[in-house]
Amino acid sequence: MKPIQKIKGTKTSSFGSPGRIGHDSSKFYNSRLYEGVQVSQQVKYIENHVDSSKLDKVYCKSSESMNELPDNSIHLMVTSPPYNVTKEYDQNLSLREYRDLLKRVFNETYRVLVTGGRACINIANLGRKPYLPLHSYIIEDMSEIGFLMRGEIIWNKASSASPSTAWGSWLSAANPVLRDIHEYILIFCKESFSRDGIAKSSSLTRDEFLELTKSVWTFPAVSARSIGHPAPFPEELPNRLIKLYTFKGDIILDPFCGSGTTCLSAIKNGRHYIGYDVDEKYVNLTNKRILSFTAQSELFDNKLTLVKEPTKRYRTTKTKAKKKKR
Ligand SMILES: C[S@@+](CC[C@H](N)C(=O)[O-])C[C@H]1O[C@@H](n2cnc3c(N)ncnc32)[C@H](O)[C@@H]1O
Repeated sequence: MKPIQKIKGTKTSSFGSPGRIGHDSSKFYNSRLYEGVQVSQQVKYIENHVDSSKLDKVYCKSSESMNELPDNSIHLMVTSPPYNVTKEYDQNLSLREYRDLLKRVFNETYRVLVTGGRACINIANLGRKPYLPLHSYIIEDMSEIGFLMRGEIIWNKASSASPSTAWGSWLSAANPVLRDIHEYILIFCKESFSRDGIAKSSSLTRDEFLELTKSVWTFPAVSARSIGHPAPFPEELPNRLIKLYTFKGDIILDPFCGSGTTCLSAIKNGRHYIGYDVDEKYVNLTNKRILSFTAQSELFDNKLTLVKEPTKRYRTTKTKAKKKKR
Protein backbone atom coordinates (compact mmCIF):
# COMPACT_ATOMS: atom_id res chain seq x y z
CA MET A 1 0.00 0.00 0.00
CA LYS A 2 1.28 3.46 -0.92
CA PRO A 3 2.05 5.65 2.13
CA ILE A 4 -0.38 8.60 2.46
CA GLN A 5 1.40 11.75 1.32
CA LYS A 6 1.00 14.73 3.66
CA ILE A 7 -0.14 17.87 1.75
CA LYS A 8 2.59 20.48 2.06
CA GLY A 9 1.33 23.88 3.28
CA THR A 10 2.00 26.98 1.14
CA LYS A 11 4.12 29.88 2.37
CA THR A 12 4.83 33.50 1.40
CA SER A 13 7.13 33.56 -1.63
CA SER A 14 8.65 36.23 -3.89
CA PHE A 15 6.34 35.11 -6.72
CA GLY A 16 3.15 34.92 -4.62
CA SER A 17 1.27 31.70 -3.95
CA PRO A 18 -1.36 30.53 -6.44
CA GLY A 19 -3.36 28.81 -3.68
CA ARG A 20 -3.33 28.89 0.11
CA ILE A 21 -3.44 25.64 2.06
CA GLY A 22 -2.33 25.74 5.72
CA HIS A 23 -0.52 28.91 4.63
CA ASP A 24 2.59 29.97 6.59
CA SER A 25 2.63 33.77 6.39
CA SER A 26 5.15 34.35 9.20
CA LYS A 27 7.72 35.72 6.70
CA PHE A 28 5.24 38.44 5.64
CA TYR A 29 4.10 39.36 9.17
CA ASN A 30 7.72 39.47 10.40
CA SER A 31 8.71 41.89 7.62
CA ARG A 32 9.45 45.55 8.42
CA LEU A 33 6.08 46.57 6.94
CA TYR A 34 4.47 45.28 10.14
CA GLU A 35 6.97 46.93 12.50
CA GLY A 36 4.99 48.60 15.30
CA VAL A 37 1.66 47.06 14.26
CA GLN A 38 2.09 43.66 15.89
CA VAL A 39 -1.00 42.43 17.71
CA SER A 40 -0.73 40.64 21.03
CA GLN A 41 -1.51 36.92 20.62
CA GLN A 42 -2.36 36.54 24.30
CA VAL A 43 -5.59 38.32 25.19
CA LYS A 44 -7.86 37.57 28.09
CA TYR A 45 -11.38 37.04 26.78
CA ILE A 46 -13.83 39.20 28.75
CA GLU A 47 -17.60 39.06 28.29
CA ASN A 48 -19.87 40.69 30.87
CA HIS A 49 -23.59 40.06 31.24
CA VAL A 50 -26.15 42.69 30.19
CA ASP A 51 -29.18 42.75 32.45
CA SER A 52 -32.31 41.70 30.52
CA SER A 53 -34.02 44.97 31.56
CA LYS A 54 -31.48 46.87 29.42
CA LEU A 55 -31.76 44.60 26.37
CA ASP A 56 -33.94 44.85 23.25
CA LYS A 57 -34.49 48.57 23.72
CA VAL A 58 -33.92 51.79 21.83
CA TYR A 59 -32.66 54.64 24.00
CA CYS A 60 -33.63 58.18 23.04
CA LYS A 61 -30.36 59.96 23.80
CA SER A 62 -26.91 60.62 22.39
CA SER A 63 -24.72 57.54 22.14
CA GLU A 64 -21.73 59.63 23.23
CA SER A 65 -22.56 58.12 26.62
CA MET A 66 -23.96 54.57 26.73
CA ASN A 67 -23.86 54.32 30.50
CA GLU A 68 -26.72 51.77 30.47
CA LEU A 69 -24.25 49.22 29.13
CA PRO A 70 -21.43 47.51 31.05
CA ASP A 71 -17.87 47.32 29.69
CA ASN A 72 -17.14 44.29 27.47
CA SER A 73 -20.71 43.20 26.89
CA ILE A 74 -21.68 43.80 23.22
CA HIS A 75 -20.72 41.44 20.38
CA LEU A 76 -21.26 43.57 17.28
CA MET A 77 -21.86 47.20 16.36
CA VAL A 78 -23.45 47.92 12.97
CA THR A 79 -24.09 51.55 12.14
CA SER A 80 -24.33 54.29 9.59
CA PRO A 81 -23.41 57.62 11.21
CA PRO A 82 -25.18 60.91 10.44
CA TYR A 83 -23.53 62.38 7.34
CA ASN A 84 -23.50 65.99 8.47
CA VAL A 85 -24.77 67.02 5.04
CA THR A 86 -27.68 69.19 6.18
CA LYS A 87 -30.22 66.35 6.37
CA GLU A 88 -32.99 67.21 8.86
CA TYR A 89 -31.14 65.55 11.78
CA ASP A 90 -27.68 66.89 10.89
CA GLN A 91 -26.06 69.64 12.97
CA ASN A 92 -23.88 71.42 10.36
CA LEU A 93 -20.65 70.60 12.21
CA SER A 94 -17.18 71.46 10.91
CA LEU A 95 -15.15 68.48 9.73
CA ARG A 96 -13.14 68.60 12.99
CA GLU A 97 -16.30 68.74 15.16
CA TYR A 98 -17.89 65.95 13.11
CA ARG A 99 -14.86 63.67 13.52
CA ASP A 100 -14.79 64.44 17.25
CA LEU A 101 -18.49 63.48 17.63
CA LEU A 102 -17.94 60.14 15.88
CA LYS A 103 -14.79 59.56 17.91
CA ARG A 104 -16.67 60.04 21.20
CA VAL A 105 -19.33 57.53 20.10
CA PHE A 106 -16.79 54.97 18.83
CA ASN A 107 -14.73 55.34 22.02
CA GLU A 108 -17.85 54.35 23.97
CA THR A 109 -18.39 51.51 21.48
CA TYR A 110 -14.85 50.29 22.16
CA ARG A 111 -15.56 50.26 25.90
CA VAL A 112 -18.75 48.19 25.56
CA LEU A 113 -17.50 45.62 23.00
CA VAL A 114 -16.41 42.19 24.24
CA THR A 115 -12.87 41.04 23.49
CA GLY A 116 -12.89 40.22 19.77
CA GLY A 117 -16.18 42.16 19.32
CA ARG A 118 -16.65 43.71 15.88
CA ALA A 119 -17.56 47.24 14.74
CA CYS A 120 -18.92 47.80 11.21
CA ILE A 121 -19.39 51.33 9.86
CA ASN A 122 -21.30 52.09 6.68
CA ILE A 123 -20.13 55.38 5.18
CA ALA A 124 -20.15 57.17 1.83
CA ASN A 125 -17.68 59.84 0.80
CA LEU A 126 -18.83 63.36 0.03
CA GLY A 127 -18.36 66.27 -2.36
CA ARG A 128 -16.14 66.72 -5.40
CA LYS A 129 -14.44 70.08 -5.02
CA PRO A 130 -12.50 68.54 -3.35
CA TYR A 131 -13.67 65.02 -2.54
CA LEU A 132 -13.93 64.38 1.24
CA PRO A 133 -12.74 60.82 1.95
CA LEU A 134 -14.70 60.37 5.21
CA HIS A 135 -13.92 56.65 5.15
CA SER A 136 -10.20 57.31 5.40
CA TYR A 137 -10.68 59.81 8.28
CA ILE A 138 -12.77 57.22 10.13
CA ILE A 139 -10.11 54.52 9.60
CA GLU A 140 -7.52 56.91 11.05
CA ASP A 141 -9.70 57.78 14.06
CA MET A 142 -10.72 54.17 14.76
CA SER A 143 -7.05 53.09 14.72
CA GLU A 144 -6.25 55.92 17.17
CA ILE A 145 -8.98 54.65 19.53
CA GLY A 146 -7.26 51.24 19.44
CA PHE A 147 -9.47 49.25 17.06
CA LEU A 148 -7.84 46.66 14.80
CA MET A 149 -8.93 46.88 11.18
CA ARG A 150 -10.18 43.64 9.61
CA GLY A 151 -10.92 44.96 6.13
CA GLU A 152 -13.35 46.99 4.09
CA ILE A 153 -16.32 46.00 1.98
CA ILE A 154 -17.32 47.93 -1.10
CA TRP A 155 -21.09 48.03 -1.22
CA ASN A 156 -21.94 48.18 -4.90
CA LYS A 157 -25.37 49.82 -5.07
CA ALA A 158 -25.31 49.27 -8.84
CA SER A 159 -28.49 50.27 -10.65
CA SER A 160 -30.20 51.41 -7.42
CA ALA A 161 -27.63 54.21 -6.93
CA SER A 162 -29.20 57.61 -7.57
CA PRO A 163 -28.92 58.33 -11.30
CA SER A 164 -26.66 61.38 -10.85
CA THR A 165 -26.08 63.43 -13.98
CA ALA A 166 -23.39 65.56 -12.29
CA TRP A 167 -20.71 64.20 -14.63
CA GLY A 168 -18.92 67.53 -15.07
CA SER A 169 -17.74 68.13 -18.60
CA TRP A 170 -19.94 65.94 -20.87
CA LEU A 171 -17.85 63.83 -23.29
CA SER A 172 -14.81 66.00 -22.61
CA ALA A 173 -11.58 65.50 -20.68
CA ALA A 174 -11.86 69.11 -19.44
CA ASN A 175 -13.38 68.04 -16.08
CA PRO A 176 -15.17 64.67 -16.10
CA VAL A 177 -16.51 63.89 -12.61
CA LEU A 178 -16.86 60.45 -11.01
CA ARG A 179 -20.38 59.42 -10.01
CA ASP A 180 -20.19 57.13 -6.97
CA ILE A 181 -22.30 53.98 -7.14
CA HIS A 182 -20.68 52.53 -4.02
CA GLU A 183 -20.43 53.04 -0.28
CA TYR A 184 -18.02 51.53 2.25
CA ILE A 185 -18.52 49.15 5.13
CA LEU A 186 -15.42 49.43 7.32
CA ILE A 187 -14.79 46.47 9.62
CA PHE A 188 -12.87 46.66 12.91
CA CYS A 189 -12.47 44.58 16.04
CA LYS A 190 -11.37 45.02 19.62
CA GLU A 191 -8.08 43.50 20.88
CA SER A 192 -8.39 40.18 19.06
CA PHE A 193 -9.37 39.02 15.57
CA SER A 194 -11.15 35.94 16.88
CA ARG A 195 -14.17 35.54 19.10
CA ASP A 196 -14.56 32.99 21.83
CA GLY A 197 -17.04 30.67 20.05
CA ILE A 198 -17.18 27.85 22.59
CA ALA A 199 -20.74 26.52 22.96
CA LYS A 200 -22.12 29.06 20.48
CA SER A 201 -23.67 28.41 17.10
CA SER A 202 -23.42 30.35 13.85
CA SER A 203 -26.20 30.75 11.33
CA LEU A 204 -24.36 30.76 8.00
CA THR A 205 -24.85 28.28 5.19
CA ARG A 206 -21.85 27.21 3.07
CA ASP A 207 -23.01 29.38 0.14
CA GLU A 208 -23.57 32.40 2.38
CA PHE A 209 -20.07 32.02 3.86
CA LEU A 210 -18.49 31.83 0.40
CA GLU A 211 -20.41 34.92 -0.76
CA LEU A 212 -20.14 37.09 2.37
CA THR A 213 -16.39 36.66 2.78
CA LYS A 214 -15.89 38.44 -0.58
CA SER A 215 -14.97 42.13 -0.29
CA VAL A 216 -17.53 43.44 -2.82
CA TRP A 217 -21.22 43.13 -1.96
CA THR A 218 -23.91 43.96 -4.50
CA PHE A 219 -27.47 44.69 -3.42
CA PRO A 220 -29.85 47.61 -3.94
CA ALA A 221 -30.37 50.61 -1.67
CA VAL A 222 -33.79 51.21 -0.14
CA SER A 223 -36.12 54.15 -0.71
CA ALA A 224 -36.11 56.71 2.11
CA ARG A 225 -39.79 57.46 1.52
CA SER A 226 -40.86 53.83 1.92
CA ILE A 227 -39.23 53.64 5.38
CA GLY A 228 -40.00 57.17 6.61
CA HIS A 229 -36.37 58.11 7.45
CA PRO A 230 -34.10 60.33 5.28
CA ALA A 231 -31.20 57.83 5.14
CA PRO A 232 -32.04 54.22 5.98
CA PHE A 233 -29.81 51.40 4.86
CA PRO A 234 -31.42 48.25 3.42
CA GLU A 235 -31.98 45.32 5.78
CA GLU A 236 -29.62 43.26 3.64
CA LEU A 237 -26.68 45.26 5.03
CA PRO A 238 -27.02 44.48 8.78
CA ASN A 239 -28.40 41.03 7.90
CA ARG A 240 -25.15 40.04 6.16
CA LEU A 241 -22.94 41.49 8.92
CA ILE A 242 -24.94 39.84 11.71
CA LYS A 243 -24.75 36.44 9.97
CA LEU A 244 -21.05 36.72 9.23
CA TYR A 245 -19.80 38.18 12.51
CA THR A 246 -22.08 36.93 15.32
CA PHE A 247 -23.38 33.80 16.95
CA LYS A 248 -27.02 33.10 17.79
CA GLY A 249 -28.16 34.95 20.91
CA ASP A 250 -25.41 37.64 20.63
CA ILE A 251 -26.10 41.34 21.30
CA ILE A 252 -26.07 43.84 18.41
CA LEU A 253 -25.68 47.59 18.95
CA ASP A 254 -26.55 50.45 16.63
CA PRO A 255 -25.51 53.80 18.22
CA PHE A 256 -27.09 55.80 15.33
CA CYS A 257 -30.14 53.64 14.97
CA GLY A 258 -32.44 55.84 12.82
CA SER A 259 -35.43 53.82 11.64
CA GLY A 260 -34.15 50.72 13.47
CA THR A 261 -33.11 48.57 10.49
CA THR A 262 -30.26 46.97 12.50
CA CYS A 263 -32.60 46.16 15.42
CA LEU A 264 -35.14 44.58 13.09
CA SER A 265 -32.50 42.46 11.42
CA ALA A 266 -31.13 41.38 14.83
CA ILE A 267 -34.59 40.11 15.86
CA LYS A 268 -35.05 38.27 12.56
CA ASN A 269 -31.70 36.54 13.08
CA GLY A 270 -32.40 35.49 16.70
CA ARG A 271 -30.06 38.08 18.24
CA HIS A 272 -30.67 40.80 20.85
CA TYR A 273 -30.51 44.49 19.96
CA ILE A 274 -29.74 47.84 21.56
CA GLY A 275 -30.23 51.11 19.69
CA TYR A 276 -29.62 54.81 20.34
CA ASP A 277 -31.05 57.83 18.53
CA VAL A 278 -31.35 61.45 19.61
CA ASP A 279 -34.60 61.98 17.72
CA GLU A 280 -37.78 60.77 19.41
CA LYS A 281 -39.63 60.40 16.12
CA TYR A 282 -37.07 57.87 14.86
CA VAL A 283 -37.16 55.97 18.15
CA ASN A 284 -40.96 55.77 17.73
CA LEU A 285 -40.54 54.66 14.12
CA THR A 286 -38.14 51.89 15.20
CA ASN A 287 -40.54 50.66 17.87
CA LYS A 288 -43.41 50.74 15.36
CA ARG A 289 -41.44 48.69 12.79
CA ILE A 290 -40.45 46.15 15.45
CA LEU A 291 -44.01 45.83 16.79
CA SER A 292 -45.42 45.42 13.32
CA PHE A 293 -42.89 42.66 12.54
CA THR A 294 -43.48 40.76 15.77
CA ALA A 295 -47.27 41.01 15.38
CA GLN A 296 -46.99 39.75 11.80
CA SER A 297 -44.73 36.86 12.72
CA GLU A 298 -47.18 35.79 15.45
CA LEU A 299 -49.96 35.85 12.85
CA PHE A 300 -47.76 33.84 10.50
CA ASP A 301 -47.03 31.26 13.19
CA ASN A 302 -50.76 30.90 13.92
CA LYS A 303 -51.49 30.56 10.23
CA LEU A 304 -48.94 27.76 9.96
CA THR A 305 -50.64 25.83 12.73
CA LEU A 306 -54.02 26.29 11.03
CA VAL A 307 -52.68 25.13 7.67
CA LYS A 308 -50.98 22.07 9.12
CA GLU A 309 -54.15 20.47 10.48
CA PRO A 310 -56.21 19.92 7.28
CA THR A 311 -53.07 18.75 5.37
CA LYS A 312 -52.47 16.09 7.99
CA ARG A 313 -56.09 14.84 7.88
CA TYR A 314 -56.08 14.69 4.07
CA ARG A 315 -52.96 12.53 4.01
CA THR A 316 -54.35 10.13 6.61
CA THR A 317 -57.57 9.59 4.62
CA LYS A 318 -55.68 8.89 1.40
CA THR A 319 -53.41 6.34 3.05
CA LYS A 320 -56.41 4.54 4.47
CA ALA A 321 -58.10 4.46 1.05
CA LYS A 322 -55.01 2.89 -0.53
CA LYS A 323 -54.80 0.28 2.19
CA LYS A 324 -58.44 -0.71 1.57
CA LYS A 325 -57.78 -1.33 -2.14
CA ARG A 326 -55.03 -3.79 -1.37
C1 LIG B 1 -27.73 57.83 8.80
S1 LIG B 1 -28.96 57.80 10.04
C2 LIG B 1 -29.08 56.07 10.44
C3 LIG B 1 -30.07 55.35 9.57
C4 LIG B 1 -30.25 53.89 9.95
N1 LIG B 1 -29.12 53.09 9.56
C5 LIG B 1 -31.53 53.33 9.31
O1 LIG B 1 -31.46 52.28 8.62
O2 LIG B 1 -32.58 53.94 9.45
C6 LIG B 1 -28.16 58.49 11.44
C7 LIG B 1 -29.07 58.67 12.67
O3 LIG B 1 -28.23 59.13 13.75
C8 LIG B 1 -29.02 59.93 14.62
N2 LIG B 1 -28.07 60.70 15.46
C9 LIG B 1 -27.40 61.83 15.18
N3 LIG B 1 -26.60 62.19 16.20
C10 LIG B 1 -26.74 61.23 17.17
C11 LIG B 1 -26.15 61.01 18.44
N4 LIG B 1 -25.25 61.85 18.96
N5 LIG B 1 -26.53 59.91 19.16
C12 LIG B 1 -27.45 59.04 18.66
N6 LIG B 1 -28.05 59.21 17.45
C13 LIG B 1 -27.70 60.28 16.71
C14 LIG B 1 -29.90 60.73 13.67
O4 LIG B 1 -31.07 61.18 14.32
C15 LIG B 1 -30.18 59.71 12.54
O5 LIG B 1 -31.44 59.08 12.73
